[in-house]
Amino acid sequence: MSVAPLNQPLAVMPEPGGPQPSPLHVGLIMDGNRRWAKARGLPRALGHKAGVDAVRRTVQAAADSGIGWLTLFAFSSENWQRSADEVRDLTGLLRIYLRREVGTLAKNGVRLRVIGERHRFGPETVAAIEAAEAETAGNTRLNLTVALSYGARAEIAGAARSLAAEVAAGRLAPDAINEAMLARHLATQDMPDPDLIIRTSGEQRLSNFLLWQAAYAEFVFLDVLWPDFEAAHLDQALAEYRRRVRRFGVGSS
Ligand code: IPE
Ligand code: IPE
Ligand code: MG
Repeated sequence: MSVAPLNQPLAVMPEPGGPQPSPLHVGLIMDGNRRWAKARGLPRALGHKAGVDAVRRTVQAAADSGIGWLTLFAFSSENWQRSADEVRDLTGLLRIYLRREVGTLAKNGVRLRVIGERHRFGPETVAAIEAAEAETAGNTRLNLTVALSYGARAEIAGAARSLAAEVAAGRLAPDAINEAMLARHLATQDMPDPDLIIRTSGEQRLSNFLLWQAAYAEFVFLDVLWPDFEAAHLDQALAEYRRRVRRFGVGSS
């Protein structure tokens, strides 16, 4: 599927109030790993490990379902405040995923990109991320973005900082700053806005995920813990999305 440049109307953008096609871009807040482990009397780390298996299934299911863009919230800026043990488990799993999965992603036509403060994971992980991005750069079937050490407020503050620096250097007039320009300074500058955001685990909040980009997203909250997430749950959320009527502030009642 070809994607229009940022802030251009997308070819698949639905008419306000009209029938709903499948979403072009799905964001997924993968929540509930620790509750899943606790419910089974298992160590927390096994909940996160089972969460990685759910990521594998979901990427495959998304590629098969014809979604063009999938963005997974895997580790938030705030998740660094968890215990050192848990952070170590999570970063270890991340490195294993990157090394083991890249071949499958490449074979399945998946392009992997990472947004967030990757440098905070250290040089070994940064190298694994860069290798996976380079190896999958030519793929077009599914654009998979993994948000790692990502926080939307930090992202927006970063955009404000770089615009302010351009103004201070005399290269930009404050009046020239508009929504499109700010969006071009976000980590998602090459991506369409999410049409649908799914959160698992029953929680109904964004937890600092894609705050700017989600302005007109539809939300589906599922009562399933992330390690139990299956292709059928994705289908259920996509079906719910297709039943929604999007108005973008202009549709009739
Ligand atoms: C999601 O599961 C994974 C991350 C946020 C890294 P949690 O670890 O938040 O598990 P719960 O939500 O506490 O059950
Ligand atoms: C959101 O889950 C972040 C990710 C899924 C990576 P959290 O478990 O960190 O969010 P809260 O603490 O329930 O808001
Ligand atoms: Mg959680």
